[in-house]
Amino acid sequence: MMNEKELLEWYLSAGVDVVCGDEPFVASKKGATAEVRPAITDLAQMGAAACKNAREMCEKAQSLSELEKAVENFDGCALKLTANKTVFGDGDAHAKVLFVGEAPGGDEDREGKPFVGRSGHLLNKMMAAIGLERSKCYITNILMWRPPGNRTPTSAEVAVCLPFLKRKIELIKPSVIVALGAPAANALTDEENSISKIRGKWLEYSPQPGVVIPLLPTYHPAYLLRNPAQKAKSWFDFLRLAKKISND
Ligand code: URA
Repeated sequence: MMNEKELLEWYLSAGVDVVCGDEPFVASKKGATAEVRPAITDLAQMGAAACKNAREMCEKAQSLSELEKAVENFDGCALKLTANKTVFGDGDAHAKVLFVGEAPGGDEDREGKPFVGRSGHLLNKMMAAIGLERSKCYITNILMWRPPGNRTPTSAEVAVCLPFLKRKIELIKPSVIVALGAPAANALTDEENSISKIRGKWLEYSPQPGVVIPLLPTYHPAYLLRNPAQKAKSWFDFLRLAKKISND
């Protein structure tokens, strides 16, 4: 039998972090008589329309603040409905170094900023170890909303958020991108590699023909918290990053 604290922790880990009332109730739309599930083809069309809409909104945004406004008005990702806050990004809009993670977690969802929980604290220490100030970098994620219970994002969720990440990169124009974990590296290189295969190797992200930004995949700090023995490899990756930016 769980005690009250354990029960609340269990709810939190499942993504239930808001109390709507004292009595349980079934949410339903006013006037709805039966549950209507769109057919798979309708869902695919809705996904394609949302991606098109995202790309159009991104094209219009000429600055990070305009892009953030566009995200406020964007309703093409259902994660926005379950998240507490939009986690757009944090840092210097003209940063030389851009860090990209996967998706906000519980702490980020509460604060509206990326990498502010345990993973963020480790990331801050790793940056400080090579003399990088967090406020002089830019930090963001593929997804701008927390998936409930921190579940793995679906490919449709990644696809609809990707135009916003790509536009951020066009506007920030970083000299270097650090992908924290395989999902971020794979989303930007359009490949399907494991992090153990690509970490520490310089890859390339091309925002437009003829333009190439060096991209360094490394372990996600959450992985390092679970596997501290791998921190030595990350240290080498960060030394490679330090060498690259000092040569710029
Ligand atoms: N993990 C991520 O990938 N991003 C965050 O912002 C926090 C944890």
